[in-house]
Amino acid sequence: MDGVKRWRWWAVFILGALIGSQFACGGGNDSTKANHEALVSRIAFGSCANQTAPQPIWDAIIKFDPQVFIWMGDNIYGDIKRPSKMFGKERTIGPWKNVPRFVPTSQDEMNFKYHIIKNHPAYSRLRHNLNTKAGIYTSYTFGPVGRQIKIILLDTRYHRDPLSSDGTILGSTQWTWLEKELNGPSSAITIIVSSIQVISNLSATTGPLFYMESWGRFPKERDRLFQLIADSKRNGVFFISGDVHFGEITRYDCDVGYALYDITSSGLTQAVEKAVPAPFHFVVRFLAWWTPSTMRVIGKNCRHRSCTYGQPNFGAIEIDWDATPVALKIEVRDTDGIPAIGVNISLSELQAQSVNSAATLRVGEHQKHCSLEVDLPWIVRYRLTILFYFSVAGMFFSTLGSIFLKFLLFALVGLNFAAAVVFRLFLRKCKLD
Ligand SMILES: [Fe+2]
Repeated sequence: MDGVKRWRWWAVFILGALIGSQFACGGGNDSTKANHEALVSRIAFGSCANQTAPQPIWDAIIKFDPQVFIWMGDNIYGDIKRPSKMFGKERTIGPWKNVPRFVPTSQDEMNFKYHIIKNHPAYSRLRHNLNTKAGIYTSYTFGPVGRQIKIILLDTRYHRDPLSSDGTILGSTQWTWLEKELNGPSSAITIIVSSIQVISNLSATTGPLFYMESWGRFPKERDRLFQLIADSKRNGVFFISGDVHFGEITRYDCDVGYALYDITSSGLTQAVEKAVPAPFHFVVRFLAWWTPSTMRVIGKNCRHRSCTYGQPNFGAIEIDWDATPVALKIEVRDTDGIPAIGVNISLSELQAQSVNSAATLRVGEHQKHCSLEVDLPWIVRYRLTILFYFSVAGMFFSTLGSIFLKFLLFALVGLNFAAAVVFRLFLRKCKLD
């Protein structure tokens, strides 16, 4: 078995086990069949749970009492047990610690793990659900007719081409399946689950310092997704996503005739603010606020000015079916179950023609939720990078007279640049592996 197959096999298995174990326990294994007639009004979701880290957040999730829990993700933490020596024994401080998980394990180790897992009941259920197709995309429908919620779980990893290739994310077979799902029986609400962010394209404003994986980095593929939703004339669609280790709510108004929301919850244990000591959390929040975003939903009820949340979190969806029109409250909540960011949406807002499209824009006008990040004026788009290099330059000149410190700063900048280059090369290699 070559490296590609090894990696894919593990990615498919672990993600499948996570999702499959949640849904298979509910008894659903037919993607086209309604799983439950009971009305569903509370759904929780989450991603990025390191099994070696404390997970107190489950108390808050249990208190929320969700009828459905959606476990998202595309990478695994399960193959890493080496403790971090820099910040303590628990490896809870960010994605860079988990880099080895991208590296395929040896054939012997794969065989060893396979022999352990193949007799587990969850694996049998997963195999049954997958039905031997390539990838683990599937869908479930909950609730009585007229108040149904369809949950479409995409596989954004199995078929994905290398980052920056502008190739495919879903692959042709999954695209055909998704088209059928969107054009199938209607549902009041359709939740499309993507492990990676759909609406936000953070990389457009954090590059060249660092880049994230997202649909925004595959613009043709994302356009195709929006077009598919528009062509299906399906109303009540929104996305949920994970991956980035912070919570965020974004929306895009200019493609399907209504606002497409993407509620990101990440992660259950992994979070960006845990990468730095508590006295420096304000720096993380400042940088999140300083980094421009055209899609982020900024509301008065955000805990921080950035309207992102960098501590462990989970997503909570509450649906008031008795309201007229039906009302949705979607929040990213902390480990105490307290909302950190949230949005209230009327289901009537998620109907085609409820939002005027780009036609309302005047020439040259920049509109939030409608202009892509890549179309921002360069002085705005790259202000994080500009700030970074001005800070470095400031530190350099403030150390006049100390040749050693100057040399040290030069070395740090050089190391930073080299690390960025290696990281990018590594990401590319990982996909090719
Ligand atoms: Fe993660």
